Amino acid sequence: MNAEPDQYGVIGHPVAHSWSPFIHGLFARQTGEAVLYRLHDVAPADFRNYVLDFFSRGGRGLNVTVPHKVAAAELANELTPRAQRAGAVNTLALERDNRLLGDNTDGAGLVHDLRDNLGIDVRRRRVLLVGAGGATRGVLAPLLVLQPAELVVANRTPERAASLVADFADLGPIRGGGFGDIGGDPYDLVINATSASLSGELPAIPPSVIGAGTVCYDMAYSRNATPFLKWAQEHGCARAVQGWGMLVEQAAESFHLWRGVRPQTAPVLAALQERLVVNSP
Ligand code: ATR
Repeated sequence: MNAEPDQYGVIGHPVAHSWSPFIHGLFARQTGEAVLYRLHDVAPADFRNYVLDFFSRGGRGLNVTVPHKVAAAELANELTPRAQRAGAVNTLALERDNRLLGDNTDGAGLVHDLRDNLGIDVRRRRVLLVGAGGATRGVLAPLLVLQPAELVVANRTPERAASLVADFADLGPIRGGGFGDIGGDPYDLVINATSASLSGELPAIPPSVIGAGTVCYDMAYSRNATPFLKWAQEHGCARAVQGWGMLVEQAAESFHLWRGVRPQTAPVLAALQERLVVNSP
């Protein structure tokens, strides 16, 4: 008889739209790992008790998404260096001694997608990162490792960008400010790390950031083009990409942390895209 599968899941609020169960289901099938992965929609006030209960009942790991990533960092007994830098956790893993390890695989997910899936070279390029919340914090260090010529963080609330970049200034050429501080020249890569797409909004950045060679990347994703990507295409960007690849790559990093095997991402990304096309209106 087969052993019961180990319990994993994603915790967020809302989380019903999450593709993580689909992705991890394919990873489990591909690797032959006995993994059961479910959705957990939990309000912020219940987050702590819910997580502790999940693990005390034998749960092995959780992905953590909006709005719980900072709370998860506070709850973990131990943080990986990259989660510590990020100040946010997107992956919780139960360790052998019953301690909770918090990791952040978002940055690695973005870098894998840019470099391995999309063939985008960030070295010596000018990069604009829009937004200064948890999503930005998670990707700053891995982006700076790629040695961009300049990494500009622009946020609707300029003070948040300024205080965020101060924490990363030792890692490379980074500066932060408001949308008015972006400058008039096009960037090589513009990444939207705001949560604006989730509410169908567009960050009010000037179109001058886009030139004919600019790649625009929305860390958010949806079945149709996000408002940011529509806007980028309207202003003549070279390429507009949404964060499906980042989603699959960060999931693979989490799966690796939990199970010690890194699944192949290309077939899973292809299956996801096929599913999106089949199900699109
Ligand atoms: P996350 O963890 O997803 O980053 P967050 O910490 O709440 O979530 O941060 C949300 C980010 O999206 C912030 O940078 C926020 O800008 P403010 O700091 O000014 O609030 C940004 N954001 C959300 N909606 C936006 C909008 N309509 N236009 C511009 N920026 C927006």
